[in-house]
Amino acid sequence: MTDASESGCERCIVAIDGPVASGKTVVGRALAQRLGWRLFDTGIMYRAAAWQVLQNKVPLDEDESVAELIRDSRFELRDAPGRDSVGLDVYVNGRDITPHIREADVESTVTVVAANRQVREMMVAHQQNQASRGCMIVVGRDIGTVVLPHAPVKIFLDASEEVRARRRAAEQNAGADEESVLVATRRRDARDRSRRASPLVAANDAITLDTSNLTLEESIDTAEQIVRQRIPDLSASSDAGPAESG
Ligand code: DC
Repeated sequence: MTDASESGCERCIVAIDGPVASGKTVVGRALAQRLGWRLFDTGIMYRAAAWQVLQNKVPLDEDESVAELIRDSRFELRDAPGRDSVGLDVYVNGRDITPHIREADVESTVTVVAANRQVREMMVAHQQNQASRGCMIVVGRDIGTVVLPHAPVKIFLDASEEVRARRRAAEQNAGADEESVLVATRRRDARDRSRRASPLVAANDAITLDTSNLTLEESIDTAEQIVRQRIPDLSASSDAGPAESG
């Protein structure tokens, strides 16, 4: 396992954490495009783990069995730059399961799998390895606190519950009920914030960016300003070029 902080890539990592639908992925993707860096949305790994648990019908409350299954499974990330996704496809034991990671059953179980301490340890090791491969915007819940605690830029993206629920409802098919999206958003947030293993919390040295009253463009501009302030020699860092994946 390689920690990006030890690999010489420390200077070109941006950690973005925050609650459900705070805009992490969309801001992260735009930032990655502007800087010519990669985006790594770590949530896809927990989603892949949840899919694997469901597929194998392992009871979610059996922590040891869940951890054993994940330990015995092979998770791989492969570049998928052309797709309208997070730019990475996720494979489990050689099978591309990317089309399944946003399905309703994964959506409703992922927070439970993500709370499993042993699963987290395995995923964090994988994520540190991936992040050691070049300049990257790394998005998640515990990036600034646990995965890449030495990242030079840490942004905690936030917005009010109502704004996040409205955005999430708009993302979903027309007519998604804002009230039920709000309830689901609250439930997922509560689980992410209250779990014992690396709960969602802003790192001490993170800059909180509340986007409740900002347009998407303003949020991206502000995030970019934060990055440029923290990494003044940005163009030199960008020359590190894209990383290998897999
Ligand atoms: O960001 P997302 O909705 O794709 O994340 C899916 C789940 O994984 C969510 O419950 C939070 C969890 N997660 C986490 O615990 N740590 C991360 N670094 C990324 C996601």
